[in-house]
Amino acid sequence: MTNATINFQTATGHEVLAAVGKKILRPGGRAATEQLFQWAGFKPGETVLELASSFGYSAIALAQRYHVRVVGIEKNPNSVARARTNIAAAGLSSQVEIIEGDIFHLDRIAEQFDYVLAEAILTMQSPPGKAKLLSTIRDRLKPGGKFLSHELLARSRETEIHKALAQAIRVNSTPLSEFNWMSTCATAGFQVEQHQTGAMELLNLRRLLQDEGILNTVRILWNILRYPQLRERVSAIHQVFQQYQQDLSYIIMCATRV
Ligand SMILES: C[S@@+](CC[C@H](N)C(=O)[O-])C[C@H]1O[C@@H](n2cnc3c(N)ncnc32)[C@H](O)[C@@H]1O
Repeated sequence: MTNATINFQTATGHEVLAAVGKKILRPGGRAATEQLFQWAGFKPGETVLELASSFGYSAIALAQRYHVRVVGIEKNPNSVARARTNIAAAGLSSQVEIIEGDIFHLDRIAEQFDYVLAEAILTMQSPPGKAKLLSTIRDRLKPGGKFLSHELLARSRETEIHKALAQAIRVNSTPLSEFNWMSTCATAGFQVEQHQTGAMELLNLRRLLQDEGILNTVRILWNILRYPQLRERVSAIHQVFQQYQQDLSYIIMCATRV
């Protein structure tokens, strides 16, 4: 277990999954993020703002592979500390900065960026929260800049899924249908240039192996086995994912600020 201080009853789903050792906390996993990166077409020297940057893995990959400068915003101090350690270990401290803060209060950042990357964070907001966050994202993009989004999609039964997820992951998780994601982005002043949907398999063994590798998958399974309270929470989350597997997907979108 990586974080002994969480409250097993009230911790959010991503805190529970991080506590068992999961590093990739987004519905389409590494492969979906990779597709977003391909669509983006980053050029060396360009700038990326990453919202909810968690442990810094996407920020590190961007800086290493595309030589862009990345600023990440993350509110959990433990995740910020872990991200900064990872960034220093990768020798990227001059290229990647993590700011501890709330994505709804980006006033400390005056800069406008070529890209904003936001994965598994818009879903967690209510409809007014989504609209507010999208407007903040738009403000932080240069004209013509690109918004790279990776979220949870409900093919049907949006209200029922919202209720089941909110209970299991203790977050106001509100996945939208494909049509509603598109129209929410359009209303906020974005033109969705590319998008893709696919199965939501965050806790399936095959996806775990793809996203986490063999060693970390074994470590995650071992942690789930030996901590009964975490096991209970992971199993409740897994149950909801299984129950709605025909309806739940991920969606990735590459959208331009118009
Ligand atoms: C589901 S994860 C997103 C994961 C990350 N983007 C990734 O793809 O692995 C949730 C992360 O968002 C952070 N977070 C949630 N609400 C936030 C907020 N209002 N401001 C900044 N970070 C936030 C949490 O602390 C956690 O690290």
